[in-house]
Amino acid sequence: MKKIKSELPIFYETAHAELASALEMLAACKGTDSPKLALGYFLHARDEYNHARSFFNMLSERGKKASIEKARDFRFTPPSLIKKGYISNKGFLIETMKLKDFIAFVYTNELLAKSSFENILILVGHSTEEGKRIATIMNDELRHHGMAKIHFLNHYPSLQPWQLMIYRMRETINNKGRKIYDANLKFLDRLLTPLYRAMAFLAGTMAKKLNLNEFKRKGKNLMNISSNSIL
Ligand SMILES: [Fe+2]
Ligand SMILES: [Fe+2]
Repeated sequence: MKKIKSELPIFYETAHAELASALEMLAACKGTDSPKLALGYFLHARDEYNHARSFFNMLSERGKKASIEKARDFRFTPPSLIKKGYISNKGFLIETMKLKDFIAFVYTNELLAKSSFENILILVGHSTEEGKRIATIMNDELRHHGMAKIHFLNHYPSLQPWQLMIYRMRETINNKGRKIYDANLKFLDRLLTPLYRAMAFLAGTMAKKLNLNEFKRKGKNLMNISSNSIL
């Protein structure tokens, strides 16, 4: 049970990341005028949807074994893609980034995704069914990384390796930032929930003590009521 508890957040976050990638790629597909690029983005989006589905399936397997209270915390709702920072509320990356930065983003993130899956692979075991599925996903990510690299070298041949390294460093920091942001949200939730409950309890107690007869208007001359009255 302890293992499942620690695995739930990993599969939950990864499923979010994969679904967000699928949506980003679909947005890029819709936004481009080049049929060749559109096909590339479309096939990439299809892969990412399949990855997301695999991780949601693995999440649901673990959710079934966890307690209802625990599983409830890992129920997926689409707005959490924005709330958790996987999709920006300012728009899709293809809309907010220069094409060059977008391709560099794909180039670096595919490699980062592949290396983060290495840890998940150790967790589930190489020889398990899930392990085999994750190994296939890792191959897909490497293929995506390779495709972005080819595109990059064709279109921006003057780009130096150190510039790509900076892109990679920036993305690593962004990923860490997202984790800190998420941890902060959870901390605030733990801190504020008792406060909200106390306020709701107080409001309920006050409402119970109110004499509602005072609020009855029937038979009253409303013209005689003070202008300060809440009636
Ligand atoms: Fe993926
Ligand atoms: Fe990918």
